[in-house]
Amino acid sequence: MASRSKNRRNTPLIVYCSQTDNTRRVAEAMASPLAAELVSIEQLKDYQLRGRSLIGLGSGVYWLRLERRIVDLAAKIPDGCRVFIFSTSGWRGRVLADFFQSELAKKLAQYHVDLIGKWHCPGHDRQPLFKWLQISRGRPNEDDIADARAFAASLKTV
Ligand SMILES: Cc1cc2nc3c(=O)[nH]c(=O)nc-3n(C[C@H](O)[C@H](O)[C@H](O)COP(=O)(O)O)c2cc1C
Repeated sequence: MASRSKNRRNTPLIVYCSQTDNTRRVAEAMASPLAAELVSIEQLKDYQLRGRSLIGLGSGVYWLRLERRIVDLAAKIPDGCRVFIFSTSGWRGRVLADFFQSELAKKLAQYHVDLIGKWHCPGHDRQPLFKWLQISRGRPNEDDIADARAFAASLKTV
């Protein structure tokens, strides 16, 4: 039992929500340099959060916010854990990215965790009502995926 908890401590965890696959692709790219365990929010069991020292939380933006279940995880992160957040959205821009991530960042600030990084990129909007507009078509692209990988690699030294 003790060794399982020790293994979890040494292995970063990335939890993501992805309705149309964009954020999952980003999450997979981030998992690689960190050798992280990758779990969708649908598959996550609470015990998988226990004992972690590094957790990534990622989501697409749905109706102006990150998925509620990802935001609610803030309350379940172990004390002292380092956390990074990432997201993808149809609409672009740093200001919007900050807005979309602010709810989760504020919630994390209520707990004893250390927010060490934030990352965002555009993601092709396949929502049925808007998909004819082709918003952020082709994103995340190869550069976005490379950037996600580099971001995650940089966290190893934080
Ligand atoms: C149901 C739904 C609602 C969305 N609402 C927004 C939104 O409010 N603002 C935005 O910029 N993008 C919105 N999008 C686009 C997604 O944020 C974008 O495509 C994102 O990359 C989806 O991530 P995913 O493929 O991991 O689910 C929406 C997409 C869907 C499917």
